[in-house]
Amino acid sequence: IPVEAFDLVVFGATGDLACRKILPGLYRRYLGGQVTEHCRIIGAARGPMTRADWQAMIEKALSQHVAKDKLKAEKVAGFLERLEFVTVDARGDHGWSDLAAMMREGVVRAFYFSVAPDLFGPLAERLRAHDVADAGSRIVVEKPFGHDLETARELNATLAQHFDETQIYRIDHYLGKETVQNLMAVRFANILFEPLWNAQYVDHVQITVAETVGVAGRGAYYDRAGAMRDMIQNHMMQLLCLIAMEPPYHFDPDAVRDEKLKVIRALDPVRPEDVVRGQYEAGEGLSYSDEAGNPDSRTESFMALKVHISNWRWKGTPFYLRTGKRLKARASEIAVFFKQPPHTIFDDASGWQENLLVIRLQPDEGMNLKVMIKEPGPGGMRLVRVPLDMSFAEALGAEGADMPDAYERLIMDVIRGNQTLFMRGDEVEAAWSWADPVIAAHEGRRPLAYAEGTSGPLASDRLMARDGRVWRELH
Ligand code: BG6
Repeated sequence: IPVEAFDLVVFGATGDLACRKILPGLYRRYLGGQVTEHCRIIGAARGPMTRADWQAMIEKALSQHVAKDKLKAEKVAGFLERLEFVTVDARGDHGWSDLAAMMREGVVRAFYFSVAPDLFGPLAERLRAHDVADAGSRIVVEKPFGHDLETARELNATLAQHFDETQIYRIDHYLGKETVQNLMAVRFANILFEPLWNAQYVDHVQITVAETVGVAGRGAYYDRAGAMRDMIQNHMMQLLCLIAMEPPYHFDPDAVRDEKLKVIRALDPVRPEDVVRGQYEAGEGLSYSDEAGNPDSRTESFMALKVHISNWRWKGTPFYLRTGKRLKARASEIAVFFKQPPHTIFDDASGWQENLLVIRLQPDEGMNLKVMIKEPGPGGMRLVRVPLDMSFAEALGAEGADMPDAYERLIMDVIRGNQTLFMRGDEVEAAWSWADPVIAAHEGRRPLAYAEGTSGPLASDRLMARDGRVWRELH
């Protein structure tokens, strides 16, 4: 799909995100023919640096973060030709007239704020004051979007002074993941699932984002955030919305975001007894508090909670969310557990189990629908649950194996002017309104300790056992 000519300015051009995700993603889009000779990527940072310095830095970053088979010397050279560099001071006046002079007329202008959130306001203001941005320009802002409702509101208000909501792209990279978007395709392009997608047929839903990594290297940020702010208020909330929302009338940015917003607004307050917070202990690696550099840290690196959605579709079906660092496996999935058939014609010993739909986000993206069949053999009616298994990479062949990374997709959506996969201001505020009381209820309390390489504190299993349920095994 051809993309228009653009000038994309990356603020924070020498930072970790730019080197690890943004520029490698743009390079892959260059290979895909979407970053043409009419496009420019302008790195902007505070330090003095030449264009050649930045090109060298990005060449190195590509060699580390792009698959070897995609690194052809002449392609890399061609991509580096598309890069420019400018030194600007986000809090002062230095460099802004240089940047303004670089901008071209008649091409899409986009500005990626890959910087600390306290610079979002100053950057937005200067883009306007120095006429760098025009009426069609887009700005891209990274998480964290606020620390709580109040700060998110302030940030929205500040950005709104300089840009219209249609120009603001708030990134949640989970929305760029192929399988996350697939949730919408599976739900709304098939007749099979939607009739059963409600409290009458769904017993409960489990949403898991388990990680094996700890917080080393980013403890200062993480210790102020914790799992609730880092993962649940944003990424997991988005997954919950896509699973629970009503069908939008059209696949259109506001139609989709209106429906997601309704889900967030329908969330019940979370009861304190429905929350489990954990923190990993030292094992083969350091403890959480050592990695965070805060011996008395009360921040959670694991969180499990039970959520209710009070609306016509979902009343009575609990959604269980869990996420944590240093767990047994890296596994992100959504599991929809269906109810029993209303009447069973088989006897109790037949071995009945519920139908289960597992949507695997990573690794090994795919879907797995578990259905009951008769166990083969002459031994009477014995039932067995078997998977209708579909790995996307296998099913789609080469195309499936080469799925674009979340950032690649999202940056190209910015250029195309499509906000469907970006959070709207009111959505972010609603998510904070729900999250803030959950955070406040546990502030200052010590999380439960858990050993690395486990599934988190035992209390998380008890949260399920209390309702006669069990978490799916992490693997
Ligand atoms: C980030 C969080 O937004 O998402 C990290 O800040 C987390 O703590 C990461 O590790 C997970 O992203 P992914 O794409 O690796 O699942």
